[in-house]
Amino acid sequence: GEIAQRSRDIIRDRKHLEGPMLPILHALQAEFGYIPDIVKPVIADELNLSRAEVHGVVTFYPEFREHPGGRHVLKICRAEACQSVGCDNLADRVRQLLGIDFHQTTPDGAVMLEPVYCLGLCACGPAAMLDGEVYGRVDEHCLSEIVGRLGR
Ligand code: FES
Repeated sequence: GEIAQRSRDIIRDRKHLEGPMLPILHALQAEFGYIPDIVKPVIADELNLSRAEVHGVVTFYPEFREHPGGRHVLKICRAEACQSVGCDNLADRVRQLLGIDFHQTTPDGAVMLEPVYCLGLCACGPAAMLDGEVYGRVDEHCLSEIVGRLGR
């Protein structure tokens, strides 16, 4: 398909670089907005790696997205300290508010919801992050407000 062909061109332009994987992934994400699943075997093929190796790199670096992104990215911390102060309830509530599950984007393309495992705000959880900005002691009220501000 078109994505595969386009990605092959992008990869071929960069495979001669030293340590080509990250520049290739950055270029692919700049082109498509995320790293589509179907480009992984193409990368593996061009760089002589296994698909598992490519997948490993994509998932290791948090900056690479595996799904088409929304204009805003809302992350809810789901790690232990936040769980002990009710992040699960909060997560349920935000799923309801947005009408989507984790790893999904609202149909209008406004918000993508992602789980995150510790934002370094354990002492003031539940913690959330919106477009790179962290929020502590997030409750339902504050969350509706944040979501409401997204101009959807
Ligand atoms: Fe949520 Fe650390 S566990 S911020």
